[in-house]
Amino acid sequence: MKSKVDFDASQTLAPLPVVLVGCAHAELGLNLLTVAWTGIDCSDPPAIHVSIRPGRHSHRMIAESGCFTVNVPIRDLLRQLDLCGIVSGRDGDKWRRAGLTPLTGTSVAAPLVAECPVNFECALARVVPLGAHDMFIGEIVARHADADLVRGGRVDFSKLPLVAYVNGEYWSLGERIGTYGFSGKERA
Ligand SMILES: Cc1cc2nc3c(=O)[nH]c(=O)nc-3n(C[C@H](O)[C@H](O)[C@H](O)COP(=O)(O)O)c2cc1C
Repeated sequence: MKSKVDFDASQTLAPLPVVLVGCAHAELGLNLLTVAWTGIDCSDPPAIHVSIRPGRHSHRMIAESGCFTVNVPIRDLLRQLDLCGIVSGRDGDKWRRAGLTPLTGTSVAAPLVAECPVNFECALARVVPLGAHDMFIGEIVARHADADLVRGGRVDFSKLPLVAYVNGEYWSLGERIGTYGFSGKERA
């Protein structure tokens, strides 16, 4: 057996998804930020969370507007993804600076990122203060995907150059190595 040592837990679960979160506010306008602390939390009702520091411009916008969008980026958007995570909407129009296009959704006021192939519209269901971050849990009230990606009601992610976040680095995903439940089929 290899010996084990302790490490900084907050940085080291890997790989993480990394997403662009869109928000809107009656006085502050539209904004977006990059979030790696995110995940699907429930299938029925479908729920997703994003954990955001209270100091972020977007934090106030989401808390007060009660909605946000989660947008899945691809490798071609890496520069924009990084930029939206290092500049604040307080300092100017991040959409314009990143060259991204806000798209009106169908169900909430927060904008979708048109360039992202998969988008979720979320109604804020609960805020869980955790310490450095507040977890915004949103009910997914609408989903959108580029038409050429959807087959039989499912998004064909094999067509997308997906991006993961690993301990301060961006990684592309490699090849598919299995499917859900394949081990059970082998036993049968
Ligand atoms: C790859 C990456 C992941 C990030 N993940 C988070 C996160 O999970 N939560 C968070 O509060 N900030 C996260 N950030 C930082 C915010 O995106 C960043 O502070 C942003 O400028 C906030 O924008 P705003 O002030 O316009 O809301 C991340 C940044 C990067 C580059």
